[in-house]
Amino acid sequence: MFSNRQHAERRPVRLADVAQEALQLIRNSAPAIVEIEAHFGERLPFVLGDSTQLHQVFMNLFTNAVQAMGEAGGRLEVTIEPVDVTAEFASQHPPLREGLSVRFSVSDSGPGMPKTVLDRLFEPFYTTKAPAGTGLGLSVVHGVVQNHGGAVVVESSPGAGTTFAVYLPASNSASWSGEASRPIAPEPLTSCRILFVDDETSIARLGQLMLKSLGHSATTFGDPAAGLAAIRANPNEYDLVITDLTMPGMTGLELAQGIRTLGSSIPIILCSGYADQVPDESIKRLGIVERLPKPFQMQTLGADIQRARATEGKTGGGQSPR
Ligand SMILES: Nc1ncnc2c1ncn2[C@@H]1O[C@H](COP(=O)(O)OP(=O)(O)OP(=O)(O)O)[C@@H](O)[C@H]1O
Ligand SMILES: [Mg+2]
Repeated sequence: MFSNRQHAERRPVRLADVAQEALQLIRNSAPAIVEIEAHFGERLPFVLGDSTQLHQVFMNLFTNAVQAMGEAGGRLEVTIEPVDVTAEFASQHPPLREGLSVRFSVSDSGPGMPKTVLDRLFEPFYTTKAPAGTGLGLSVVHGVVQNHGGAVVVESSPGAGTTFAVYLPASNSASWSGEASRPIAPEPLTSCRILFVDDETSIARLGQLMLKSLGHSATTFGDPAAGLAAIRANPNEYDLVITDLTMPGMTGLELAQGIRTLGSSIPIILCSGYADQVPDESIKRLGIVERLPKPFQMQTLGADIQRARATEGKTGGGQSPR
């Protein structure tokens, strides 16, 4: 995922717009007991960056905050403000440079973290939420922020909540009030609940990570029969199915058939290097709305999901977008 982003676009981005959009997604999915407070400075400088990547950073931090607060709920506070980074602070937080930066901080009133967790939290695959967590959320945050020439600072102690502060260098080309260089708004996202089936654990894991990063929630199954059972048990729990084709025991097509037999019209994306070889007739009959070739990239995945949602009415899909 990182390597695919080498040629990421750099445009003047209004961080407040990106944060707003991510907050909206979180508002829609977080328990009502989470109180969300946003303080965005009025005349914020632009940052030069990739709004999709920055969206991911917000989503990962918000998700962690909401998860940390859990059932008990609490307060999520988001602040964006300009700061003057001193030479000393910059030298302690490479690659950050001295000068004008935009700082956004995400604070939660959750349980905080002991030092043992603080020491490791940016490590890829480090998670205290196994098996649901991939432990990649914060390594993505770290990677993206580094790529933007910024820095992440964490403050947390047990019982005292957690604050992540992200510093991003301000763009000096873009103006402060900025009407002239308004960035292209990120695509509007609709969060969906996806059931992802792939017998290869690494793909299931990567798929889950990508889907999360795209703002969706994903439940993965390595065993198609278990995926089918999940739909049978809770037909309204999912908005979309993404399945591999060749799997031991049950193929993706058999899974699709099983789902239709249950009477569900949920859209299905067939994700396989061989998806092209499946006859159009079967694709149509089984209500498969997209063929997603493997290996897939995050943008393709995101676009296919949005398209699949858009065709939902045509396949007679039941659930309305959340
Ligand atoms: N706001 C927070 N409050 C308390 N602990 C946190 C917070 N954010 C992160 N952590 C700790 O850091 C660990 C690593 O976070 P990271 O986002 O990388 O992975 P994850 O949340 O466990 O999994 P994933 O993001 O893939 O769902 C978490 O498992 C958790 O223990
Ligand atoms: Mg996380």
